[in-house]
Amino acid sequence: MKIKNRHRKSFALRCCATMRSPLPIMVCSMVGCIMIIHFYMVSHRTDVEKSQARLRQISATRELGQTEEESFQLPPPRSRRSPRAIKRRGPRKPPTVIDEFLDDSSELRSFFFPHRRTAVDPSKEGNDSMHFYPGRQWLDTEGNPIQAHGGGLLYVESTGTYYWYGENKDGPTYQAHRKASARVDIIGVNCYSSKDLWTWTNEGIVLSGEETNTTHDLHKGNVLERPKVIFNDRTGKYVMWMHVDDANYTKAAVGVAVSVSPTGPFEYLYSKRPHDCESRDMTVFKDDDGTAYLIYSSDDNSELHVGPLTGDYLDVTGDMRRILIGQRREAPAVFKHRGTYYMITSGCSGWAPNTAMVHAAETMMGPWETMGNPCAGGNKIFRATTFFSQGSFVVPLRGLPGWFIFMADRWNPSDLRDSRYVWLPVGVGGAADEPLEYSFGFPLWSRVSVYWHSRWRLPEGWRGFR
Ligand code: DGJ
Repeated sequence: MKIKNRHRKSFALRCCATMRSPLPIMVCSMVGCIMIIHFYMVSHRTDVEKSQARLRQISATRELGQTEEESFQLPPPRSRRSPRAIKRRGPRKPPTVIDEFLDDSSELRSFFFPHRRTAVDPSKEGNDSMHFYPGRQWLDTEGNPIQAHGGGLLYVESTGTYYWYGENKDGPTYQAHRKASARVDIIGVNCYSSKDLWTWTNEGIVLSGEETNTTHDLHKGNVLERPKVIFNDRTGKYVMWMHVDDANYTKAAVGVAVSVSPTGPFEYLYSKRPHDCESRDMTVFKDDDGTAYLIYSSDDNSELHVGPLTGDYLDVTGDMRRILIGQRREAPAVFKHRGTYYMITSGCSGWAPNTAMVHAAETMMGPWETMGNPCAGGNKIFRATTFFSQGSFVVPLRGLPGWFIFMADRWNPSDLRDSRYVWLPVGVGGAADEPLEYSFGFPLWSRVSVYWHSRWRLPEGWRGFR
């Protein structure tokens, strides 16, 4: 009777009943043990793998953060003054390094602008493969010098591809009038693609200059600088923002273009003065929550302005903050690490290099604090001139939290098409060297360093870190 009842009971109870015999109990316990051991091993293995990956990252980034020293000797002044001239005007002053840098007949020319035969060439295999050489010519996969000045990168996750947008300056350099700064006619915005950040394929001109219509913003006689592209997840469109100006930089506006593909063609929409303010050097930054911001030098370059874009990224909203007032900064490049926003800027000295500064903020809208010069290594002059370059963008290095690439231009005002690229590792970490005055001796922000290397590469297997 008892057995009959048990049969009527649930399956679970039936199982329990069968377990009265020792064999199934043993089997169950063994299976349990095996599962526990398996789970332990799997979780232990992922822990071990994680810490191995972490160690790999630490040792890989150690090299990025090692600084290199540089030295060079300034040549003596080329002509001596006659005794009469010395009496009248004193002895000739030795040239400054900036004078030498700007002088295309300087003996130091090949130091700043190394010869074509030293070019970084992805078609050549060997010791130099995958190495960055700041200041050397950099060739694309077809063997032509990369023309993407004042540029920025966009990463497209779905294809693991980086796109580099920048000014095509492959034309003659001239001065529009005696007092004007050197210029090249607008050709357009070039785009290059790469999966490893070193081998770049030319995708062509994705936004063209205008040859004939003199009323067009992008007429060749005007200025198109610092193009940056961001992707709008909501509209599925690639949106390009750029500085558009007339030859005398009095228009001081931003231009907007849009495309359904990262490789264009981009349709030019319009230009405007954002928030009714002058806008010269600029950048855009897309935050993790999808909000994008325009940051631009304004009010005769005396301050920067920052404000969010509309949801479709095609315009600015009415919200704007004035930041770094009176500091006269340009060439903003924004990046974010562990919830803090950082921005590297340059001073304003035309095509001549000057000292970079890094700023930090808890929100994009500020307040922004100036932390100091991020350049590390090289020598005093290198650090004071941003390694003879001017920043344009900061790229986060995927899989290496706290590591970035500083993209900068070494402008060559006597032949702008031969301006070079200076790409260097940036590390965020550790306390800032100099605590800010009001922080009671405690540094508020982590130190940001741009490390000088005459030759460097991304960590071996970097693409595998993702
Ligand atoms: C410095 C800016 O950063 C560049 O983009 C360019 O506008 C030059 N000035 C022109 O002198």
